[in-house]
Amino acid sequence: MKNIDTIKEKLKKVYYPGFAKSIVEFDFVKDIKLDGDIANISLAITSSATEVEDSIRADIEKELSTIGIKANIVVHKPQAPKQNSNTLSGKNIAPTVKNFVMVSSGKGGVGKSTTSVNLSVALAMQGKSVGLLDADIYGPNIPRMMGLENQEPKIEGQKVVPFEAYGVKVMSMGSLMEPGKALIWRGAMVMKAIEQLLRDIVWGDLDVLVIDMPPGTGDAQLTLAQSVPVSVGVNVTTPQHVALDDSKRSLEMFEKLHIPIAGIIENMSGFICPKCDEESDIFGKGTCEKLAKDYNTEVLSSIPIEPSIRISGDEGEPIVFSQPETQTSKRFMTAASKLWENIEKSKPDNSAIQPTIGGVSACSTQTAKSQETKKEKESCGSGSCGCEH
Ligand SMILES: Nc1ncnc2c1ncn2[C@@H]1O[C@H](COP(=O)(O)OP(=O)(O)O)[C@@H](O)[C@H]1O
Ligand SMILES: [Mg+2]
Repeated sequence: MKNIDTIKEKLKKVYYPGFAKSIVEFDFVKDIKLDGDIANISLAITSSATEVEDSIRADIEKELSTIGIKANIVVHKPQAPKQNSNTLSGKNIAPTVKNFVMVSSGKGGVGKSTTSVNLSVALAMQGKSVGLLDADIYGPNIPRMMGLENQEPKIEGQKVVPFEAYGVKVMSMGSLMEPGKALIWRGAMVMKAIEQLLRDIVWGDLDVLVIDMPPGTGDAQLTLAQSVPVSVGVNVTTPQHVALDDSKRSLEMFEKLHIPIAGIIENMSGFICPKCDEESDIFGKGTCEKLAKDYNTEVLSSIPIEPSIRISGDEGEPIVFSQPETQTSKRFMTAASKLWENIEKSKPDNSAIQPTIGGVSACSTQTAKSQETKKEKESCGSGSCGCEH
């Protein structure tokens, strides 16, 4: 007999996983409608775990098949538990810092550190109190770019005092590790290191802490988002397509972590000839506009390839400070103003940050690739800019 009662009897044989009571006794069966040989069953269960739902579905199908009925099951279940919002829970392990900016890129070598350095110095030149944290544990190069190489950090009590350069407070994993000693970073170590860099540095009152992240979308990014309320994220990319694919992952990570995206810095976009000042297209300028649109954000600035950017980086004199009259410096200054506008607009809500699952980050994890360094063309020998010399 195919009627509601026989179906109910069959459902009494479906036990809730781990219990000796059936889903009927638990009152989880909310509705049964029979339509020919198909039973439309509505359930409301108390677990958000997929294994529980899958097991119940399989058992119902098995029981009903014995009386020639197919089950069409709708399961209502609670939302997976969410990590408390850093803002709502008050979690901010560096409470004297008002805003945190996460600078990220899909891969190394695209100019993430160059951008972090110049945006920080630009914000300081615009009157903000700024900190710069080099959290790129795999390739910390901020000390060199800020002229702080080989400096020993001062310890005050249990805490580390940041260096100061160009009006910016700076600390780097590179300054805290033994020089030349390569560490193999495992997930838990990465998380601990990021937490310590936030908690154990005497940052003091800051309007903004700019954080140069390791490339990719792994544990470091998740830890940062779970330790402090990140105000905005900045993505650095080059216009080439390979880089753009990586960039998508990086932008998607911001979305997953519910970090508002302030914008994209399109770096190595075009080449400004040092001799004739003409700008020419090398890697295909402007490709980031579409990417920005897709993620509902904007290109904060397009930074050309300019030999003086690399030279100023190598010499520890950020270009916005040492050569403020250059096109590049002006563009970094514009990017910094736009960044600040975005910071002021952002109200960080990290309430939906996903917890780690079995030690693996909920966001896509990518191992840091080796730092690929792009060598810019330092002369016009290739004729790419079309000038004659
Ligand atoms: N727009 C640019 N023009 C010229 N050289 C650049 C530019 N951006 C970055 N560089 C140089 O490219 C190299 C990689 O940049 P870096 O900022 O260290 O990248 P990342 O931090 O993403 O690995 C550095 O030597 C840097 O000076
Ligand atoms: Mg770097």
